[in-house]
Amino acid sequence: MKEEILVGLDVGTSKVACVVAQRGADGRVDVVGLGRHASSGLRKGVVVNIEATTESIRHAVQEAEMMSGVEIRRVVVGISGAHVRGLDSHGVVRTRNNEVSQEDVERVLEAARAVKIPADQDVLHVLAQEFVIDGQEGVREPVGMSGVRLEARVHIVTAARSAVENLMKCCRRCGLDVGDVVLEPLASAEAVLTDEEREMGVAVVDIGAGTTDLVVFTDGAFRFVSVLPVGGDHLTKDLVAGLRTSTKAAEELKIRYGAASPQFVDENEEIEVPSVGDRPPRLMARDALAQLLDPRVEEILELVREALERSGYFALLSAGVVLTGGTAKLPGLVEMAEDILGVQVRVGAPRAVGGLADVAGAPEFATGVGLVLWQARTRGALRSTPRRLSWWRRLWNWFTQEAE
Ligand SMILES: Nc1ncnc2c1ncn2[C@@H]1O[C@H](COP(=O)(O)OP(=O)(O)OP(=O)(O)O)[C@@H](O)[C@H]1O
Ligand SMILES: [Mg+2]
Repeated sequence: MKEEILVGLDVGTSKVACVVAQRGADGRVDVVGLGRHASSGLRKGVVVNIEATTESIRHAVQEAEMMSGVEIRRVVVGISGAHVRGLDSHGVVRTRNNEVSQEDVERVLEAARAVKIPADQDVLHVLAQEFVIDGQEGVREPVGMSGVRLEARVHIVTAARSAVENLMKCCRRCGLDVGDVVLEPLASAEAVLTDEEREMGVAVVDIGAGTTDLVVFTDGAFRFVSVLPVGGDHLTKDLVAGLRTSTKAAEELKIRYGAASPQFVDENEEIEVPSVGDRPPRLMARDALAQLLDPRVEEILELVREALERSGYFALLSAGVVLTGGTAKLPGLVEMAEDILGVQVRVGAPRAVGGLADVAGAPEFATGVGLVLWQARTRGALRSTPRRLSWWRRLWNWFTQEAE
């Protein structure tokens, strides 16, 4: 196997990140390029302006090309937004030869996919949780096992068709070929979790600018997804209202001096707040800034708690919660999350970033890096979303095989 280039495109509410990685003959994945550009065409994770989003993607991709020296043609793109849904399903098939083959597995996943979903939703993923062979539960690697009746328990993730199409339209306008569309927090999880955490039970909470995305894994399998329409933009807006300053100034103040709550900053520290118009800047106490952020941080974490309770897996999170996304950098957030959620919490930064750890190793790149790791894991291995071959394609395959 020769070296292979994998490209992940994270089209976020505040930025577009394009991550280029190289997979060597030994299977090792190394990030070799990163492009980032501010985005303005999305609201709460969803494309609302094609023109503006296309421009942001173009810039991020060009930057990643310059850094990596690789021409980018094909990308795997992430999607999120409150339109994302998840549901459990299952499928049953009879094995063809009293032994489970790869083809039987593909058929049973296809059967599990046959569930009623709203007409305006598209299936993004069919994620296998476990297989049952002749009543024997808890099988993870069914291929090669003896049995007649193969059952699959899966979690299906769907997204609004229009949101998927608009995202793909932006990519195509940049001359990019979209290989796959992947749920963003599934990619983030790929970048920040260890296998052990997935086994023990863990939630990844990606707090970005427009949304807070949450996924749950237990016993190594994907269980639950929820996308909450709140994020770092709300914190910035609260500062704009509370300080009567511009969005740009509020954003800078938040990143430079913000904290989840006053207890995490020095009460004697003073900071300078720019005013709007030509009024002179004012001085204020840094803990007063944290005071303005505190209620919203609490609200976001309460919503996370509610979602985890709704998932039915809250009591099973032995490895706790891993926070990622740009807002995870807010000082005091981990402590406040531990307080509100009552489980252990850590910040997850992307792994496998090799020589680019200083730039790509920040939590806001978890999704972008995760998209390449997700490709590396699924490509060549069992695909999580087998698509049914069309009849003419089957005929063609049959015909060309016969002819060989
Ligand atoms: N040091 C920091 N402290 C607090 N917030 C921060 C810090 N650094 C970045 N942020 C916030 O993180 C957010 C951006 O995070 P991220 O890049 O993960 O979002 P995104 O992927 O663009 O958005 P989304 O995933 O919601 O569509 C912004 O709201 C930004 O203000
Ligand atoms: Mg994001």
